[in-house]
Amino acid sequence: KHTEPMLSLDNAFSHDEVREFDERVKRFLKTGKEIEYTVEPKYDGLAMELTYRNGILYKASTRGDGYEGEDVTVNIKTIKAVPMKIEGEEVPEEIDIRGEVYIDIKEFEALNRERAKEGESPFANPRNAAAGSIRQLDSSITSKRKLYLACYGIGFTKGIEFTSQWEFITWLKKARFPVPALIKLVRGIDEVIDVIKEIEEKRGAFSFEADGAVIKVNDFELQKALGIKTREPRWAAAYKFKAHQAITNINDIIASVGRTGAITPVAFLEPVRIGGVTVS
Ligand code: IVH
Repeated sequence: KHTEPMLSLDNAFSHDEVREFDERVKRFLKTGKEIEYTVEPKYDGLAMELTYRNGILYKASTRGDGYEGEDVTVNIKTIKAVPMKIEGEEVPEEIDIRGEVYIDIKEFEALNRERAKEGESPFANPRNAAAGSIRQLDSSITSKRKLYLACYGIGFTKGIEFTSQWEFITWLKKARFPVPALIKLVRGIDEVIDVIKEIEEKRGAFSFEADGAVIKVNDFELQKALGIKTREPRWAAAYKFKAHQAITNINDIIASVGRTGAITPVAFLEPVRIGGVTVS
């Protein structure tokens, strides 16, 4: 059971919808002043809660329905990027650190090639590949997959307090936790949109799949004042990128027979460059 629920995010599909989010925030707070926000990539992975007691990793759990997740501690401990203990001077009695476990794009593609060879259906996206790798009953399989972690959120804490998202991120870095690539602290919605554009431009160069950008009100007092709707906080939003698209020809379709006799149709495409990779 998560001590504090793990929430989801409201989506924005255009820059105008991002501006509307900022307007709602200001209206709710009854302020005309520019708001400070953090902006970072939205990772296409699996949300995770890492509970540390007296600085030692005690439990790792999936988001589940937001209130109760699966205990995946044994498998998570095989991921090199996950700190077994909190480094530094400020070690709290207890802290829930939230983040995304994700798979390297190259690893995702290699895994799918292997699955196709075995006649297994490929993972539809890196998120499913990360989830499949974490839910392995055999943790030695998890340990062989190239899985990483980006920490971006906080749940229950005892013995430490933060006043803002940026202060928390700074603490995470000092404590040697990986944080999102390109995370920025900005003021006002114009600067938010500049960072969103930068993330979208650099998206193809990331080693991970980013399906959007996440915008969060920086100040924790303001976050508290804004509160939560049912499952989504009023203080955050996800800007969703348009899916990568390309047009190509299907050269052939074969019926691939797997070990179990399951038949998977496999299409051979005329190779096409998309989102920094070649799809065939
Ligand atoms: S913040 C209230 N930051 O998106 C804040 N989530 O739609 C909730 N996600 O379940 C999460 N990258 O799995 C946050 N940089 C990021 C994220 C991120 C990916 C996922 C996460 C969450 C879902 C919400």
